[in-house]
Amino acid sequence: MTDDSPEPSLDPPDWSDLRALGHRMLDDVFDDLAGVGAGPVWTPMPPDVRSAWDAPLPRAGTAPEDVYAAYRRLIAPYGVGNRHPQFFGWVHGGGTAVGMLAEMLAGGLNANCGGRDHAPIACERQVIRWAAEMLGFPADSSGLVLTGTSMANLVAVLVARTWALGPQVRQDGLAGARLTAYASASAHMCVARALDMAGLGSDSLRLVPLDGAGAMDVAALRAAIAADRAAGEQPFLVVGTAGSVDTGAIDDLSAIAGMCAEQRLWFHVDAAFGAIAMLSPALRPLVAGMERADSVAFDFHKWAQVPYDAGCVVVRDAAAHRAAFARNAAYLRGEARGLAAGEPWPVDLGPELSRGFRALKVWMTLLTYGADRIGAVVERSCALARHLARAVDAEPRLELAAPVALNVACFHYRDGDDAMQTAIAADLQEAGAAVLSTTTWQGRTVLRAAFVNHRTAEGDVAALVGAVLESGMRRSLRRNDESGASIIKQTGISR
Ligand SMILES: Cc1ncc(COP(=O)(O)O)c(C=O)c1O
Repeated sequence: MTDDSPEPSLDPPDWSDLRALGHRMLDDVFDDLAGVGAGPVWTPMPPDVRSAWDAPLPRAGTAPEDVYAAYRRLIAPYGVGNRHPQFFGWVHGGGTAVGMLAEMLAGGLNANCGGRDHAPIACERQVIRWAAEMLGFPADSSGLVLTGTSMANLVAVLVARTWALGPQVRQDGLAGARLTAYASASAHMCVARALDMAGLGSDSLRLVPLDGAGAMDVAALRAAIAADRAAGEQPFLVVGTAGSVDTGAIDDLSAIAGMCAEQRLWFHVDAAFGAIAMLSPALRPLVAGMERADSVAFDFHKWAQVPYDAGCVVVRDAAAHRAAFARNAAYLRGEARGLAAGEPWPVDLGPELSRGFRALKVWMTLLTYGADRIGAVVERSCALARHLARAVDAEPRLELAAPVALNVACFHYRDGDDAMQTAIAADLQEAGAAVLSTTTWQGRTVLRAAFVNHRTAEGDVAALVGAVLESGMRRSLRRNDESGASIIKQTGISR
């Protein structure tokens, strides 16, 4: 082949400069990670950085060193902050250097993991077998590594829908079927969104009331299913939660499993973080019953500390999984030999055709640290959540809002309304002191600390409590001063 253009390939004619730059990038990343707890947790983008994101399409290239300098200036200081030990917001994993290296290797290999017969797919299947082993599922279970639990829940809903209505639903659509699904009132919003995206409508999800511990009330679940059957609906799916996003509450998975078996319903578990508790002998009893599910969705990027993004779905019945997605397009035909062999292909198990090699970072993380060490991280996170709960109990200005079931502690600053709790969270974020998120629990806005990051230690809990108290007291004083000033103004009393 001849090519007259001056630079036919995007590879450099001489690799030495790019190689040196790559080594410098690696050194910088290791330095950043080694000192990650020293700087602010989060830094808002200053105006000049924000405005830099409005540039026109670059027609000509820029030297890689300059592009890297732009990365260091515009991006590196302004990330989410979830690598930092004082990040307690939402449910974010901290990542590891090994996971980062795996991302680099996967990028270098540039494998397309939609199908065909190559080692990256064998690696993904190995990861799925490990996931099945962790969950107590049969070794021949099926599964996929996906972006996250949102996508994994969607895949599970689609599998359950096809199981309930038969493969014809894939051509005909629902054709008037009135499927209903059930999850606790604390289920993550992505469960309703999965039903929406599956064409069932989010109203097909019945939100079952909670018991006192924040778990699904199984008697209420039974009653809701009976009422729907009586009204001519077709109950097909129960989604149990192992680690609710609000408080970390765990549904009674054994009771739900028994009920689903008795009533021939698909039992799916959203175990976004709770699944990894299976790796801790001390915590495993809390999620007992998960091993009886038909499918489980969870994340490696949360408690297993794999860098974003890495979610997973595991389906007990491999044939049911395949029946929901497999298609026989001529241009994607599997063959008996050559690169086109290797059935089943991941494209037959989920919505994506082109897929990156996410499984590598999961494989390398599990191999490097071992499942027991990840289990120990999970155990320590739960111990830290209990430690925070004790610190809150011991502090008269704070009040624990909900029992600590797993790794999430919700509390509030007593001398403050809902707006004050939101303001305290924002104060801490903007000061770079800590990242807490908020949620609504029993009608009130509460501060919510989720312990996920392997770098968090007891000292971080003390610093968090100190920062919350400082912000709360400052706000209380300011509010009291303002209301004092307003009384003075209204009454004309001089100070
Ligand atoms: C219980 C639960 N389910 C689902 C999700 C969504 O997971 P992802 O963000 O990986 O899509 C989360 C996220 O925190 C979660 O906590």
